[in-house]
Amino acid sequence: MNSKTVHIKSFGCQMTKLDTALVTSALKEAGFSLTGSEKEADVVLINTCSVRRHAEQRVLSHLGNLKHIKQSRPEIVVGVIGCMAQRLGSELLEHDAVDIVCGPTQIPQIAEFVTQSLQEKKKTIAITEKIRRQTSKKQTLALEKFESVFDADDRQIPNQTFVRAMRGCNNLCTYCIVPYVRGPEISRPPAAIIEQIKRLADKGVKLITLLGQAVNSYKYTTCEKTYCLADLLQMASEIEGIEWIRFVTSYPAEKFYSEILKAMADLPKVCNYLHIPAQSGSDKILKAMNRNYTADKYLELLDKARDIVPGIAIAGDFIVGFPGETEKDFQQTVSLVQKARYKNCFIFKYSPRPGTTAEEKLQDTVSTEVKKKRNIELLAVQEKISDELSKEFLGKTVVVLVEGLSKKPHLNAKNGENRPQLVGRTATDCIVVFNGPTSLAGQFAKVKITKTSPLTLFGELA
Ligand code: 5AD
Ligand code: SF4
Repeated sequence: MNSKTVHIKSFGCQMTKLDTALVTSALKEAGFSLTGSEKEADVVLINTCSVRRHAEQRVLSHLGNLKHIKQSRPEIVVGVIGCMAQRLGSELLEHDAVDIVCGPTQIPQIAEFVTQSLQEKKKTIAITEKIRRQTSKKQTLALEKFESVFDADDRQIPNQTFVRAMRGCNNLCTYCIVPYVRGPEISRPPAAIIEQIKRLADKGVKLITLLGQAVNSYKYTTCEKTYCLADLLQMASEIEGIEWIRFVTSYPAEKFYSEILKAMADLPKVCNYLHIPAQSGSDKILKAMNRNYTADKYLELLDKARDIVPGIAIAGDFIVGFPGETEKDFQQTVSLVQKARYKNCFIFKYSPRPGTTAEEKLQDTVSTEVKKKRNIELLAVQEKISDELSKEFLGKTVVVLVEGLSKKPHLNAKNGENRPQLVGRTATDCIVVFNGPTSLAGQFAKVKITKTSPLTLFGELA
């Protein structure tokens, strides 16, 4: 047992959150204790994201603060882990505040690096030099071992957790940094995933979300058979205690698509929810993005999903202001959003990422103002649709898995009332806010919807 305390900050996507949970687990296992206070911690770790420049800037400005803290407490150890560590490598190590730089592939060694750094006060860097090369067997095994021991201790939301189905990505969308920071696609062995889910279920986990950058391309061949995501869903469904299963993110492609949708339709535990980013509604832009579909083909995939799984909730992602995007291209995106009728979508302004094909070969032609304007316009189009879809819930009773206290307690408050409220999500990922005891966190509850807004449903315990 050592008496040192660690504070971990996480900036980023679900993959990053999962890595944070794994690192937290590993450090606790090594005898460290966690602290919520950065000022008092002996070790500060920052888990990072490189998908957009803004995410990296937030980390850099945070490192600026840490530099000041370090001036009064030079003994603290600061580590940057994850995608930005992989991308910037030695450049980050030169930062006055930074002692450890550790890429996503090297996180199994994090406890070792932290211990070393505390003892020897020397800087450590561990990243992958040739990131697009197939990960070595040794590294894959280390990652697998690190990952599969993960159990429920570090659930950020009670009784639900992410489970990685795959690492890396092979799609090489021209704007995207992920393949260059997380390396090539590798599917985890189904037996390891299922074992892990069983252990999580034993600890009370009710909802698991299988993660992969293009999770529908999950494929693992053993001597007996080739497993696809539909097989994983089937096997996970058989685990007692697991009630809901989600998976994100899906790439719009035919491969395994019907099988996955059929599994969703046939298996009651598989949530009727699909996150399937289109990125653009213009065929010209989709081609420049190296997305291998047209807008019509994409809409056909959505039709198929709604055919096989009636009532399915669909979410999307879009990038506005990609190089060469004209007003006409953008209006095609608007039209696609109108046709797609997403439950919600995430809209991002294009951000050139160093080393990607788009950044190297295409000029960032769309001005910041135009990106901003298109972002606002697309959000408004989606908000109207989300609002209409939300209103369909009025008077209905939904089942939610309760996450805990709502961060915005005032939203559904009666006159002048300001007591805490609970927040939960339906199987289709709708956010529901209602009054109730905190003991419901991690449990299922039935809520009658009495009021709606585009992104939130409000109600009363039924
Ligand atoms: N600029 C803006 N958005 C991006 N995304 C990925 N790369 C970029 C980029 N360079 C968005 C995509 C993806 C989501 C996770 O982030 O929409 O689906
Ligand atoms: Fe990036 Fe495309 Fe892979 Fe998604 S599918 S992680 S956008 S390269």
